[in-house]
Amino acid sequence: MIGIFDSGLGGLTAYKELHTLLPRGDFVYFGDTGRVPYGSRSRELLMRYARQDINFLLANGADVILAACGTVSSVVLDALKSEYALPLIGVVDASVEAALAATKNQKIGVIGTGATVSSGAFERKLHALCPEISVTSVACPLFVPLVENGYIGRDCAVTRQVAEDYLAPMKAAGVDTLILGCTHFPIISDILADILPETVLINSGSAAAKKVAEACGAQSGAGSASFFVSDSPVNFDAVARVFLGGETVKAKQIDIEKY
Ligand code: DGL
Repeated sequence: MIGIFDSGLGGLTAYKELHTLLPRGDFVYFGDTGRVPYGSRSRELLMRYARQDINFLLANGADVILAACGTVSSVVLDALKSEYALPLIGVVDASVEAALAATKNQKIGVIGTGATVSSGAFERKLHALCPEISVTSVACPLFVPLVENGYIGRDCAVTRQVAEDYLAPMKAAGVDTLILGCTHFPIISDILADILPETVLINSGSAAAKKVAEACGAQSGAGSASFFVSDSPVNFDAVARVFLGGETVKAKQIDIEKY
């Protein structure tokens, strides 16, 4: 059973890819919609949230867990790995490897939540693997509530306006590759691609999903997927349906504070 968690809808970018790669895999997904956004939380709070998210997935049979959240992956995942016996995979390593493989001009951009960008995790990893790379990082926190509230259409003027503003430094820096370091961001990748048409966009959720699929090998389960959230599922179900191309999700609400 593959467990996936995020603060909300963002982890669906990883689920979508995993579901394609492992159609017979079994998945349990948790979106912490009652406590989103994670990107403005302290390290202490993120530790507590991530432990509860992991404990919930363990209680529901997960034997490998993908932290499909750039914030958790950047800020607390390394510290948590020693607490758990099962494989805990984040989104940083896979995205960095994909970005280094894609760049031709050695100029890479990173966008993520405030916590992710302040942590410097992507930048550190990029420089560790390739010291001469130039990295431009920009925090884009407003994308998270826009996505959670369904402002995801390519023609959405509000999201486009915000994106123009956030991505201006990427244009100025001439990055040829941009890591979408928050898993919510690939949900609006049409808009981001319109603004940076020459730039390769790295989807951190799907890059990490490929790593998980490799680690799991061929799965021979029932092809099941169950979804859980920590607040009313109405909004999650509606946006998930659009993003997943019509797949009905029917998330159940749980009390994450019990875990
Ligand atoms: N999707 C998450 C991330 O990748 C969290 C966004 C948030 O809750 O602020 O960072």
